[in-house]
Formats: sequence, C-alpha cells, structure tokens
Amino acid sequence: MKKARVLFVCLGNICRSPTAHGVFETLAAQQGLAGVIDVDSAGTAAYHVGNPPDSRSISAAAERGYQLDHLRARQATPEDFSEFTHILAMDEENLRNLKAIAPPDYAGHLGLFLDFAQCVEREVPDPYYGGDSGFDHVLDLVENASFGLLLKLQQAPR
Ligand code: 4NP
Repeated sequence: MKKARVLFVCLGNICRSPTAHGVFETLAAQQGLAGVIDVDSAGTAAYHVGNPPDSRSISAAAERGYQLDHLRARQATPEDFSEFTHILAMDEENLRNLKAIAPPDYAGHLGLFLDFAQCVEREVPDPYYGGDSGFDHVLDLVENASFGLLLKLQQAPR
C-alpha cells in the first residue's frame, strides 16, 4: 500500500486526538502496517501545548491496552498540510478551524474521522467536562473509525 501520514485533530490535543493517535498507531502495527503508516495528533487550540494527555484518557486507553502517556500536545499549523496525507478532525468545529488554515491547493484528505466509522455518530464528543463513561465512548468511536480507516488505506489504489 501507498505510504500514509495521518494527523488526528481535536481542540486541546489532550483527550480525543491523542486517543485516536495511540489507538490507530497500535492497530496499524498489529496489522503489520507500522512501516507504511505514520501517525501524529494536534489541537486547533494552544491551551495545553506540551502537556501529556488527560489522565482519564490515559487510564481509559490503558484498560484496553493502548499507551498514551508518552504523547505531548501541540497545536496544528499550516505546515501540517505539507506533511500529512490525511488530516482527520474529531468534530465539525475543529474541521472548520482546519479548513481556515488549509492551503487552497491541499491535495490530501481533510475530513471527519468518523466518516470512516460504521456508526450513526458523525462527531467524537468532547469528554473533557463529563464523567468517565465519556472517555470509554471516545474509545468505542475511535476504535470503530480506526478499523474503517485501516481497511480504506489498504484498499486504496497504489
Ligand atoms: P480534546 O478535549 O479537544 O479532546 O483534547 C478538550 C480538552 C481541553 C479543553 C477542551 C477540550 N479545554 O477547554 O481546556
């Protein structure tokens, strides 16, 4: 398959997108695709730059065997559009913010991550101000979309 460079984007880069980063990277490696898929994550906001993921995201992911504690938040930049073949937002608001900084000639895939999932939801809800179940729901959606994206990348023409 063609090399893919995938960037997951949410608001703070401490809950949803680092979860997607860790889950997708792990599942890609389990499918023997570590050498052909590069993964990163970023936030559209700068509030948490340099911070590790939220401890609730780290714990919920660890329960399912995904390590997130080495990740550090950064802000998405216009240069990301030169680096990544797929830039996937967790919700419509962050997709709008990405479109606002995207070069008009970006030839990669800029869209919602859940477009690759088989579920009725279109957005990964922000779990930051809610309870622990929100973090599990993020993992459910992220795993679902990750399997769909892995399948799509392997089916894509060379
Ligand atoms: P995330 O969640 O976008 O999934 O990382 C949030 C984290 C922090 C804040 C908002 C959302 N915040 O307002 O600080």
